[in-house]
Amino acid sequence: MAGFLDEIKPLKQTALAELKAAADLATLEQTKGAWIGPHGKFTALMKQLGTLSKEEKPAAGKLINAAKAELEAALAERRSELELAAALPREPTDFSAPGRRRALGKLHPLTQVTEDIVRSFRKIGFVVADGPEIEDEYHCFDALNTPADHPARDTQDTFYVAQASGLCADAKDTDRRCVPQSLLRTHTSSVQIRVMEKQQPPIRIIVPGRVYRRDNADATHNPTFQQIEGLYVDKNVTVGDLKGTVEFVFKEVLGAETKIRFRPHYFSYTEPSFEIDFSNALVKKLGKDWLEIAGCGMVHPAVFENVGYDPEIWTGWAFGFGIERIAMLRYGINDIRLFYENDVRFLKQF
Ligand code: DAH
Repeated sequence: MAGFLDEIKPLKQTALAELKAAADLATLEQTKGAWIGPHGKFTALMKQLGTLSKEEKPAAGKLINAAKAELEAALAERRSELELAAALPREPTDFSAPGRRRALGKLHPLTQVTEDIVRSFRKIGFVVADGPEIEDEYHCFDALNTPADHPARDTQDTFYVAQASGLCADAKDTDRRCVPQSLLRTHTSSVQIRVMEKQQPPIRIIVPGRVYRRDNADATHNPTFQQIEGLYVDKNVTVGDLKGTVEFVFKEVLGAETKIRFRPHYFSYTEPSFEIDFSNALVKKLGKDWLEIAGCGMVHPAVFENVGYDPEIWTGWAFGFGIERIAMLRYGINDIRLFYENDVRFLKQF
């Protein structure tokens, strides 16, 4: 018995020293196995307990258990020391080194131009309105006095969407609003109707948004592009108000020397209707005097009737133009498709 007890202490000391000296986690695991694993030296000693007499066992067991607890504590301590060391950076941190600047994102050039235009309109009391990109034919065409045989309603021009079920679940057959045909809106003019259906005049809105047409992509066409729509409804609104507003905004966005002119045109939702041309140094650079930029006109009485406004009381004007053309002119970009390719080398130039 005495020999057995005498063995415990030195064995434990050696084991403790080895555990503490383990230089890395792998060595530590090996040392653990060599001492307190199933075939470890300390484990072998514990197995000898069985050979002791009944009287000797309690004291020897106590000693051995205390020694084993000590070894396990030393193992855990060394393990956490080594784990911490492994987690620390190998190179010391140089706190005086300059920071690494993160690459900041930028607003897309189309967003920048849109924000400039919106900012100008806000100055004169316009608010931004929004509407769905997946529209129905009623809001995109019928309510805008655009008849069923209009070319824009041709499947060649327009992206129709598979019928949305339940769109007309509780509408009557006679309700023109219940046209169960969904499409990607071909212009932002549909939002004029959506806003007038919900609000009473006076109305002063602009609607920036994405529109879709079945155009083949080339340098000046893309099936997706952006427009800004404007709508102003009040009493005694005139073409003069329209011209003054457009002039104010275009001078702000395209430069103070910009001139505009109105040419008679036809849109089914305005009467009279015009196309707006503008002229400035950018246009001259292209070797031209005028460049067509927008459509506009006085809101057609039939449109007012469709939204329940009395055309004898209310007057208004509307316009719509594409953003890409303005951005292309401003930044000297010659291919509209560049806006939609998400090439960072292109985008970071603006
Ligand atoms: N919706 C027309 C287009 O996409 C632009 C337009 C013309 C909008 C006249 C209007 C307008 O509001 O009055 O080409």
